[in-house]
Amino acid sequence: MYDFTEQFEALRHKSNINVLGIESSCDETAAAVVCDGRNILSNVILSQVDIHKIFGGVVPEVASRNHTLALPSIADRAIKESGLTLEDIDAVAVTYGAGLVGALIVGVTAAKSLAYAWRKPLIKVNHLEGHIAANFLEHKELTPPFLSVVASGGHTGLIWVEDYCSYYQMGGTTDDAIGEAFDKVARLLGLGYPGGPAIDRLAKEGKPSISFYKTEKHANSEHSLSYSGLKTAVVNYVHNLRQRGEELPIADICASFTHAAVDILVETAIDCATEKGSDKIVLAGGVAANSYLRSKLEYQADKKGIKTLSPSLILCTDNAAMIASRAYYSIINGRDLAGLDLNAVSGLRIGE
Ligand code: KG4
Ligand code: ZN
Repeated sequence: MYDFTEQFEALRHKSNINVLGIESSCDETAAAVVCDGRNILSNVILSQVDIHKIFGGVVPEVASRNHTLALPSIADRAIKESGLTLEDIDAVAVTYGAGLVGALIVGVTAAKSLAYAWRKPLIKVNHLEGHIAANFLEHKELTPPFLSVVASGGHTGLIWVEDYCSYYQMGGTTDDAIGEAFDKVARLLGLGYPGGPAIDRLAKEGKPSISFYKTEKHANSEHSLSYSGLKTAVVNYVHNLRQRGEELPIADICASFTHAAVDILVETAIDCATEKGSDKIVLAGGVAANSYLRSKLEYQADKKGIKTLSPSLILCTDNAAMIASRAYYSIINGRDLAGLDLNAVSGLRIGE
C-alpha cells in the first residue's frame, strides 16, 4: 500500500528538505536535487536537440523513447552529484503537464517507480509553474507577489503570482506561443531547430527595418496577444522575395521579427504590472533567454520604476531544478501530494 499522507504532513516541518526533481515534458531529460526550494545541489540536463535537429523539430515518439533510455542514468547522476545519499532525499517531484503526453508519461512513470521503491512522497508539478520557480533558485531574495511573463515554446502568459502556489492569468496569447513563432520563422529561414537561439544571434547583426505587421494592443482588459498573424506576415514576406528571386535579408528579418514579437509582450507586461501596482516583473521560460527581450523589458520597466528579474540562461530552458523548487513550496503548503495513479496532463494550465 502506497500512502504517504502522514510522512508528507510531517515533512513540511522539517528543516533542509531535499527534493529530487524529474523533468521530461519535451526534449530535455533532466533530474536535479534542490534543498529548501532555493539551493541547487545538482542539476543534470541531457538535451535531445541533436537528435531532433535532423527532423527540424521535436518528434514526440522519438523524444519519449530517448527519455526512457536516459532517465535512469540521469536520475542516478543527479543523486551522486548532489553528494547526498538516498536516505537524505525527502521527496520525488515530477512534471505531469503541460507538455508532450508520451514524454510526460515517461517521467511520471519513472518518478512513481522511484517513490514507490524508496518509500518517499511523490509531488506533482506543473511545468509552467516550475519555470516561474526557476527565479527562486536564481534570486534568493525574491518573494511573491510579482508579475511573471511566462514565455516558452508552448505558452505565453502574463501571470500574477500572488503567492508561491497561487496564480492568476492576467493575459496571454490567443493563438501561437511566442517560442513557437520563433521556431517556425527559423524553420522558414532554414536556421534549424531550436529556432530561438539562432534568431537571437542573427538579430544582433540586423536592423529592425521591415514592418511586417503592426501587432495592435487589444483595447480590452484581457491583455490578449497574438503571434499567428505576425508569423504569417513573415511567411508572406519571405515567399514574395523568393518568388522574385531576391536575396533574403536574413539578419534584418530576424531583427524585425524579434522586435515585433517582443515589443508588444514588453508593453503588455508593463501594463499588467502597473495595473497590479507590482514593483517587479519576473521573466520565465525558454524565450526568457532572448537577449532583446531581457534588455528591452529591463529598459522599459526601469523607466516606470519596475525591477526586472530573470533566471540565468541554463535555468530559463527546461530543467529539473525548477521542478524540485516548485515542489518544495507545495510541500510546505501541504498540497500536490500524488498517488501511484498520477497521470500526464498534456494541456495543463497554470494554477490548475
Ligand atoms: O521553456 P522551453 O525550454 O520549453 C518549453 O517549455 O516549451 O522553451 C523552448 C522555447 C523554444 O521555442 C526556443 O526556440 C525558445 O524557447 N528559445 C528562445 C531562445 N532560447 C530558447 N527564443 C528566443 N530567443 C532565445 N535566445
Ligand atoms: Zn519549458
